[in-house]
Amino acid sequence: MTRKLAAGNWKMHGHTPNLAELQRLLDIHSNAKCDVLLCPPATLIHRMATMCTDSKLAIGGQDCHGAVTGAHTGEISAQMLADAGATYVIVGHSERRTDHNETNADIRSKAEAAIAADLTAIVCLGESEAERLAGSTIEVIEQQLIESLPSTANAENLVIAYEPIWAIGTGMVPTLDQIAEVHDFLRGKLREIMANAADDIPLLYGGSVKAANAVDIFNVSNVDGALVGGASLKADDFSPIISALDVHAK
Ligand code: 13P
Repeated sequence: MTRKLAAGNWKMHGHTPNLAELQRLLDIHSNAKCDVLLCPPATLIHRMATMCTDSKLAIGGQDCHGAVTGAHTGEISAQMLADAGATYVIVGHSERRTDHNETNADIRSKAEAAIAADLTAIVCLGESEAERLAGSTIEVIEQQLIESLPSTANAENLVIAYEPIWAIGTGMVPTLDQIAEVHDFLRGKLREIMANAADDIPLLYGGSVKAANAVDIFNVSNVDGALVGGASLKADDFSPIISALDVHAK
């Protein structure tokens, strides 16, 4: 069975007092069967990773540079994230694609850098509202997948997150059939590329996931978890999402 992953992306939110939210999650979910991940701002990674030592919870970065080292002021390499205690990194989030003009090729090199540093890369894909309305969702997802998939990916070091841009932070969620269509497509395409390894790659849905819709979303075929933004900031909001996924985990 594909492993299940409840992942939280804190985006540019979080200071020292918010470490209490992680402590609450550690207290509540010490026996979680699903994998649990928080991706805080880089400034909190080391402290959070230290808090998570010997626990079921993992800590990840929200982005990394594609190069190992060099003159790139303000950037963070995958190895630096690993050195700080991260075990995952998100790459290709639509906010990075938009705010920093990241291309599929950039994202592939970031994912390859992540894997080379022994991190699991969470590669994000998703169509815009205009692309959805134009009926080109699957075409867009296929191109993003093919062009950003790291050549070194395997079942242990890759997670794919489907995040429709129009569903992020809007409260709008695709229908369960629309989610199933994309996730079934992703699984099929990954099988073409990676054969049997494809079945073990967690496929996350992201975009306005809340406690109220998580149960239904986790029942959709080929959904192995969620990448949660706003509802991951408070333990009280994220905890029921983790619990909803936990029933699907071994
Ligand atoms: P929201 O859950 O706030 O819609 O954000 C989703 C997201 O972008 C996670 O990466």
